[in-house]
Amino acid sequence: MTTTLIDGIGLLYTGDPEREEIEGAALVIEDGLVAWTGEAGQAPDADARVDVAGRGVVPGFVDSHAHLVFAGDRTAEFQARMSGERYTGGGIRTTVAATRAASDAELAVRAAALVAEMNAQGTTTVEIKSGYGLTVEDERRSLEIATTLTDETTFLGAHVVPAGADPDAYVRLVTGDMLRACAPYARWVDVFCERGAFDGDQTREILTAGMKAGLRARVHAGQLGEGPGVRIACELGAASADHCTHLTSADVDALASSGTVATLLPGAEFSTRSPYPDARRLIDAGVSVALATDCNPGSSYTSSMPFCVALAVREMRMTPLEAIRAATAGGARALARTDVGLLRPDSRADLVVLDAPSYVHLAYRPGVPLVHQVFRGGLLLE
Ligand code: NIG
Ligand code: FE
Repeated sequence: MTTTLIDGIGLLYTGDPEREEIEGAALVIEDGLVAWTGEAGQAPDADARVDVAGRGVVPGFVDSHAHLVFAGDRTAEFQARMSGERYTGGGIRTTVAATRAASDAELAVRAAALVAEMNAQGTTTVEIKSGYGLTVEDERRSLEIATTLTDETTFLGAHVVPAGADPDAYVRLVTGDMLRACAPYARWVDVFCERGAFDGDQTREILTAGMKAGLRARVHAGQLGEGPGVRIACELGAASADHCTHLTSADVDALASSGTVATLLPGAEFSTRSPYPDARRLIDAGVSVALATDCNPGSSYTSSMPFCVALAVREMRMTPLEAIRAATAGGARALARTDVGLLRPDSRADLVVLDAPSYVHLAYRPGVPLVHQVFRGGLLLE
């Protein structure tokens, strides 16, 4: 068993509430796990030593919301939006058509390329949803591809009702044959609960069916308008309600008094030119908040957690500390994971060495590539 000492850390953000930040720190990796963190002067001996020369270190980002299995492109839709059109989610069907027409190999290569892009920007845990197949076989193969890239796979057969389908018949398919085919490849079940997608009753029915099949719930809620999604997420004990852009006071209270995380996706507001969620209102009410990219070809075609951190600080009035917390430990909580998103003994040694002395620079120097090195399970990603 070899140990590696990461020495000469500027500011270490541990994510551990007991000691969240350590200035002038060091960290020991043993067997893919964190074995020790503390002040550099007190570090134990190790077999190997890496001097990071005053750079800041943070846990690998946990991107708890991404749609990476798709084909095609929605550049024209983006251009139309930047000329004043509104985002409605209607473009999802364009991506569904392209995805159905693509081969397994094409989908797998494209999804892997996006995961590689994420890794290079410091993400070491990513959730991947289906939702651009919307037939039993296209959803199943989307999830099978996702399982080759992550353990955090989400069945989103209830993304929209496919063109030409009867909504009631589609809900029966999603809760029946499609769920049976997809459940073996998924850890989570998700529904796009929104006007134009699925209403409250349908959302409850689909999530409940998924939970009976052994999946845990997460929900797209309150992206385009207020609706019942957040309340249902909290009632059913969903790990996360995602978007949370349009919330009633009752929604905020429900989140604050439940274990459900509010996952904010500022890349979507950026790319749809929409008002950002009110992160301050949520944090001040005591809600657990996560940040994720929502990477998808329609509403948020970014794979960059550093970009989301910068948006959260600048546009959502989160402090840099709140933003890094939400991008690491918050994301882990949204995925019900205790082994990632923080750096304390026995955590997986997933960490980002920044080309800056602290995480504050992720927001202070927006758009600048600040990821120097990424370790996942103690191994340096090349
Ligand atoms: O989270 N809102 C639903 N799903 C995605 C968008 C999908 C798309 O436009 O292709 C989202 O924003
Ligand atoms: Fe999404």
